[in-house]
Amino acid sequence: MGYEVLDVRPMTKRIGAEIFGVNLNEPLTNKAVSELHDALMAHQVIFFRDQPLTHEGHKRLGRYFGDLATHSGVSGLPDHPEIVAIHADADSKFVAGENWHSDLSEDAEPPMGSILYMHTVPPAGGDTLWSSMYAAYDALSPAMKAFVDPLTAVHDSNHIYRELFPEVEKTYPRNVHPVVRTHPVTKRKCLFVSQSKTTRINELAKPESKALLDFLFEHVKDANFQVRFRWQPHSVAFWDNRCTQHFATWDYFPETRSGYRVTIAGDKPY
Ligand code: SIN
Repeated sequence: MGYEVLDVRPMTKRIGAEIFGVNLNEPLTNKAVSELHDALMAHQVIFFRDQPLTHEGHKRLGRYFGDLATHSGVSGLPDHPEIVAIHADADSKFVAGENWHSDLSEDAEPPMGSILYMHTVPPAGGDTLWSSMYAAYDALSPAMKAFVDPLTAVHDSNHIYRELFPEVEKTYPRNVHPVVRTHPVTKRKCLFVSQSKTTRINELAKPESKALLDFLFEHVKDANFQVRFRWQPHSVAFWDNRCTQHFATWDYFPETRSGYRVTIAGDKPY
């Protein structure tokens, strides 16, 4: 794909690209927005260095790609409800995204994408991994594709947030989505089940559902589908939540890692 204003450098053949030639804190031209969207569609997750994003700049960047969504599980910043803090330090008992997941897949309309900005990172560790759900689907045999294509699954976050925040009396989202979704822009098929959120395949008996989910959860961890990002202060990652899953490593305790995330509204998977 030809780019006129961006310098797009793929990191693996299947997923991930570093982007140069743009200042994300400034208003972007239509051309830059269109090329960023093209790069995201082509590479599924795009990375930027040295972008000290303000909250306003972060929100403006997200809004070029859709409405900003508020998180159904955790509160946003008091003055910026669309921005969620991602923070871990010596007092942390857990970190966000410690298991493979697609953000807020339990929502009726899961987000189209997320933009994570890190201002403080540990001297070593704290990488994030993304796995391509196009690659995961494509790697299944024709027989397995035919089997999983018509299935639907429950995505639920109640078990997660009730354990993390037992003092909060709240019912969190629980929704049914196809096991294989069609990307609304690229029209490619991708797997849409995750270890963190998917609890049951509806059309199968319980032990069958467990066996298939266990297989798919292991399958998406194949290193051949992945890109791993080493954060620096003021790095930004922008991922397409519809066709990727990600995993935040927590190998840096008791060091501090801190940043902010916005999510961009999506639509009902089909
Ligand atoms: C998340 O959005 O799941 C957190 C990712 C990260 O902290 O790297």
